Amino acid sequence: MAASNYKYVVLGGGNASGYAADEFLKRGVGKGELAVITEEPVPAYERPALSKAYLFPDKPARLPGFHTTVGGGGEKHDLSWYGEKGVDYKLNTKITAVDAKAKTLTAESGDSISYEKLILATGARPIYLSDFGTKGADLKGLYYLRNVVDADALVAAIGEAKKKSNKATVIGGGYIGMETAAGLNKNGLDVTLVFPEKHLMERLFTPEVAQFYEKYYTDKGITLKSGSLATEFEGKDGVVTTTVLKSGEKIESDLVVVGVGAKPNIELLKGQVDMLEDKPGGVKVNSKLQTSNPDIYAIGDVAAFPINKYGLNKLMRQEHVANCRQSAKHAVSAIMDPATPDYDYLPFFYSRIFDLGWQFYGTNEGASPVFFGDASSKKFGTYFVKDGKVVGAFLEGGSNEENDAMKKAAVTQPSAPENLGSEGLAFASKL
Ligand code: FDA
Ligand code: NAD
Repeated sequence: MAASNYKYVVLGGGNASGYAADEFLKRGVGKGELAVITEEPVPAYERPALSKAYLFPDKPARLPGFHTTVGGGGEKHDLSWYGEKGVDYKLNTKITAVDAKAKTLTAESGDSISYEKLILATGARPIYLSDFGTKGADLKGLYYLRNVVDADALVAAIGEAKKKSNKATVIGGGYIGMETAAGLNKNGLDVTLVFPEKHLMERLFTPEVAQFYEKYYTDKGITLKSGSLATEFEGKDGVVTTTVLKSGEKIESDLVVVGVGAKPNIELLKGQVDMLEDKPGGVKVNSKLQTSNPDIYAIGDVAAFPINKYGLNKLMRQEHVANCRQSAKHAVSAIMDPATPDYDYLPFFYSRIFDLGWQFYGTNEGASPVFFGDASSKKFGTYFVKDGKVVGAFLEGGSNEENDAMKKAAVTQPSAPENLGSEGLAFASKL
């Protein structure tokens, strides 16, 4: 069993990790000082591609085409890139224990790795329907989508489904549900999308906004089943054939994709650093992304960090790449430069489906929506107004300048005029 030690260790090989390594190198970390450790078989990549271009029937995205940091406009970081820079990138290495006192990680193989400063970037994993005890949830033919191995399995299943009944069921009306349903439909599959809420993406879309996307999906031939809970899966020879809904309705398909949320991978530090016990959970960090142990930082999906602006004033986790990129750079800066200011993060979400694309900045919590624009022209949005101020801004079909204007509205939180709805985009553009 080997033992090695490094000045800096990044644990996790996902989106945030790639940006952390990049920042260490930009700041002049020497050869052999930095190790990145991941259980994945490939170095960090831009995970969002998996539910989008990875599923395209023509010219799909494939590695090494989307290693980090291409999404942030940087060089692609494949294994040889890390090697040339003197980073010890350990693939296929699952860490089973962290000893925060001894500052040592133990790998499944028994190897031990010591650090002076550790950045935890273990991200999140899917919530499995078996976690809820859903009958038949362990049948083959149910797919979750978190990493490139999952995505390859799904692509193969799409190919197989085409040779059979050509039918797919998607469970969940959030990001994975909407994006994969679009991907499967593009592949020519007959898709049914099942979700418990009244409408798609209920936590962000207003009913008026959801109506647009639901019509768009229906026009593409996707069957939507809102208000529907999958309570059981039936199968033949151990492979799923049927999704049973609470209503008793049965939906037959060759494959089922499940996207019912994610939960943070916090277990390695449990009992060793402070955790956010309330929902959404996570490893508690301060505004330098530092945990209650001064030698351990946490970034990306796993970190619950304070947002003390934008009327939020609480610990939040953000399961989105913008936070991965920014928190990674910030944590590295905080480690290497004591003058690093507090982390200032504006919540930002986006999705791309078919020829559509929306962005959202700020918050919709406790705010009233004001719709603007024209859904038929695929250019519309919603301002979210709280205590007379714009606190959130959603836009479908925006140009870069228009999206920047919406971002500015969320950052500056201007007073909302009476005619905000009729002013629409022009209001943000004038700020
Ligand atoms: P991430 O989950 O990316 O990486 C964690 C890493 O840690 C993995 O490599 C994992 O294997 C490793 N790891 C965990 N435990 C370990 C252990 N014990 N030992 C070794 N390694 C371990 N966001 C967005 O803003 N826009 C978008 O369009 C999308 N699209 C999207 C599509 C799909 C399919 C998914 C799954 C997610 C998105 N997201 C997104 C969310 C975004 O990808 C997510 O926020 C980041 O991947 C989180 O990055 P992290 O590095 O924090 O975790
Ligand atoms: P999500 O939270 O976006 O959506 C979960 C959905 O699951 C809910 O909207 C609901 O419809 C459904 N659901 C919840 N409980 C259910 C149950 N018991 N039975 C059936 N349905 C249930 O999570 P997700 O779509 O699974 O995404 C997983 C992760 O991937 C998240 O971190 C997300 O941010 C990330 N992701 C982000 C993007 C993006 O930002 N564009 C794209 C894909 C994935």
